[in-house]
Amino acid sequence: MMTSVRAAILMGCWLISAASVFAASDSPRKVIIDTDPGADDAMAILLALNSPELDVKALTVVAGNVVIEQGVENALKLVSLAGRCDIPIAGGAHQPLAQKLITAEYFHGKNGLGDVELPSPACHADTRFAPDLTIELIHRYPHDITLVPIGPLTNIALALAKDPSIVPLVKEVVLMGGSISGGNATAAAEANIYNDPEAARAIFAAGWPLTMVGLNVTERTLFTDADLNELAKTHGRENNCAVGVLKFMVNLAGKLGGAGAAMHDPLAVGAAIDRSLIATEDMRVEIETRGEFTRGETVASRHNSSDLKVLHGERYIIEGVEAVRPNAHVAVKSDARRFVQLFISRIAGK
Ligand code: BDR
Ligand code: CA
Repeated sequence: MMTSVRAAILMGCWLISAASVFAASDSPRKVIIDTDPGADDAMAILLALNSPELDVKALTVVAGNVVIEQGVENALKLVSLAGRCDIPIAGGAHQPLAQKLITAEYFHGKNGLGDVELPSPACHADTRFAPDLTIELIHRYPHDITLVPIGPLTNIALALAKDPSIVPLVKEVVLMGGSISGGNATAAAEANIYNDPEAARAIFAAGWPLTMVGLNVTERTLFTDADLNELAKTHGRENNCAVGVLKFMVNLAGKLGGAGAAMHDPLAVGAAIDRSLIATEDMRVEIETRGEFTRGETVASRHNSSDLKVLHGERYIIEGVEAVRPNAHVAVKSDARRFVQLFISRIAGK
């Protein structure tokens, strides 16, 4: 009852919220995008680079969808295409904290960009290690940096382990990962969390404001054939790149029985641009690291309470319920059509 009342109130807020309307006088939100580009990562990056609400301070690259070298090259090609060599691109972790790397060329194309061939990059990689750059920027802009991780959370976990003092200095974390409705990498786990559960556990336990944009909303935020046709009417280097990558994504989704391509990573960037594109509920989210079938699952307490069990001799007796403290704003709904229209409007003609 409580949950549904709160959900209704939150949904009301989502529909009427004016807080995220960006005025020219507002200063853009400083973001670091931690990414494993990746077809949908590429779309998220182009969206961010073309959104005045965001000031992209760095793209930090992590191994995930592709190996780190390919990821860095892809990020460099994308910023080059956008004429943004001012944005540092730093490579980070080559592999997850405690397991072998799993790459996903099957879903992202041999080069990670849906087999779209972009010109050789004009921009050069930053020599700093991605987690070190993240730490440096958080200290340079205290309370002002929003982290937007859209890949496995290895780089952010390394930054956190090296310098835990960043936690209170980060404005917030808005990540693509997890799910409260089953997984995609496995029945239980979403790919970004599954690809480094130990890192994810550290990020969710850190205590910073964290928004989880998971599969339960991204799989309902689809880019369709009709959207592709709309974007294909306009032209420009980034526009054409986006059409090529999205064509790959939409075709693949069609082959796998979907009605469109899930805008996983772009929606997380969308939430950083305009919070009213998602509705959230506060939940306690734990990361399963040991389950035989559930490693990498984001286990969310929707009621934020659990049974209070007290040992009496040979058995436990439930004597009440105890509150569990929420650690995440979990996206439960997205305004999918408004988001896709925002995406198209930002990329069209660029
Ligand atoms: C996530 O996994 C990756 O393959 C995508 O880029 C996205 O970040 C979706 O589960
Ligand atoms: Ca990604």
